[in-house]
Amino acid sequence: MEKNLSVYIETYGCQMNLSDTEIVSRILKNAGYELVERPNSANVILLNTCSVRENAERKIRERLSVLKKYKNNSKPVVVGILGCMAERQRNKILENNSIVDLAVGPDEYRKVPQLIQNALLGEKGIAVRLSRVETYDDIEPLRKEGISAWISIMRGCDKFCSYCVVPFTRGRERSRKLFSIIAEVEKLQNEGFKEITLLGQNVNSYKCPETNSDFADLLKECAIRFPTIRIRFITSHPQDMSDKLIETIANYDNICKYIHLPIQSGSNRILELMNRNYTYEHYLGRIRKIRELMPNCALSTDIIAGFPTETLEDHRLTLRALEEIRFDGAYMFRYSPREHTKAYKLTDDVPEKEKIRRLNEIIDLQNKISKEINLTEHGKIHLVLAEGPSKKDKTYWQGRTDTNKVVIFKPLKSTQVGEVVKVKITNSTSATLFGELVQ
Ligand code: SAH
Ligand code: SF4
Ligand code: F3S
Repeated sequence: MEKNLSVYIETYGCQMNLSDTEIVSRILKNAGYELVERPNSANVILLNTCSVRENAERKIRERLSVLKKYKNNSKPVVVGILGCMAERQRNKILENNSIVDLAVGPDEYRKVPQLIQNALLGEKGIAVRLSRVETYDDIEPLRKEGISAWISIMRGCDKFCSYCVVPFTRGRERSRKLFSIIAEVEKLQNEGFKEITLLGQNVNSYKCPETNSDFADLLKECAIRFPTIRIRFITSHPQDMSDKLIETIANYDNICKYIHLPIQSGSNRILELMNRNYTYEHYLGRIRKIRELMPNCALSTDIIAGFPTETLEDHRLTLRALEEIRFDGAYMFRYSPREHTKAYKLTDDVPEKEKIRRLNEIIDLQNKISKEINLTEHGKIHLVLAEGPSKKDKTYWQGRTDTNKVVIFKPLKSTQVGEVVKVKITNSTSATLFGELVQ
């Protein structure tokens, strides 16, 4: 290999992709590449992509047209597409974009160094086979910061929600062995990390292939062994949110009291068409159980507006659900038809304008609720994990509460990144809390 080849990676999409970029970075570092923070001088530019909605793919196409300029330099520059869009579009991505030299799906990252080598010799390459076993268990992610770490505990998804490309882009669900996850957390603890987030498309269906331990067992094991580490997890599925799991979250102080539980719609007819396998009443039952055991647990959700055949009455049921449940926050999207999914066969019959109108109604209502909930935080004291200077104003720092809310506060000279500080909340918006340090 040529000496000192440098790679720049840009990441789009969900946390699984952020975590995968850390895995690819390690694979490339082990192969002798230098990882750089800017595309300007890089020999290799990789985009780790998302396909979940058409917008996500459009962003990548636009980015590629900007990256074209790096191709015109005197030195050769390799451009590669990793992740879900590579998996979904396969050779089309090479055919439609002359600047793309390689396309690598989520289960083929071990081949990236070889494919880059081939591309440097002028050979375009593609690797998009999905695997039933690949979990990159033996690869230690190359992490950038030292406080909070993502840990992929499983890959793929078997739920096949009718609108979703993920089962097609990430393949069948498979879990890592419990002992290897525990070993990874132990190493992170020794390196000074303060927080871990266990990641999977549906962490509730985690099953250790060796011991048969379920997700509640894994959480309990982590909570007991690492009492000083904050433990988070995403995403949960309402169908698998068992009493045992809720009790486990309630039983340990270091398991964060924050649950992301996508509801998608408040209409049972739409939920069935979405193949979500639960009713609104079941969902509500799970929320009640969570709040019964953890009155202060924060909850967030995902909503899709304008799914095929959604009537004004269905839409009203979604708004009613938001009012009844009162989530702390939500990620809200308008339906985007995805090829190969079951819903793709349904007519996308809610006009774009109407989808946007419904979505805005949902967003407005949720923002109002988030704002009201955050007002009730005023005067409360939270334990906040200090993350460092805030993006807007460096004299202020930001951190997160146990309930995953961002807090902005003025640090002391002695405040350290990774320290857990006590902050009294004095102000808020729908998305952020502001506060003062207290002793
Ligand atoms: N596994 C997670 C996340 C999946 S993708 C889960 O089950 O919740 C994140 C969110 O994107 C989904 O929850 C859904 O709300 C949204 N989403 C997925 N496919 C979509 C589509 N085709 N159109 C609009 N939103 C979609
Ligand atoms: Fe997609 Fe459903 Fe799987 Fe989530 S659970 S990744 S929405 S198929
Ligand atoms: Fe996107 Fe793939 Fe994640 S489609 S949401 S990057 S699993």
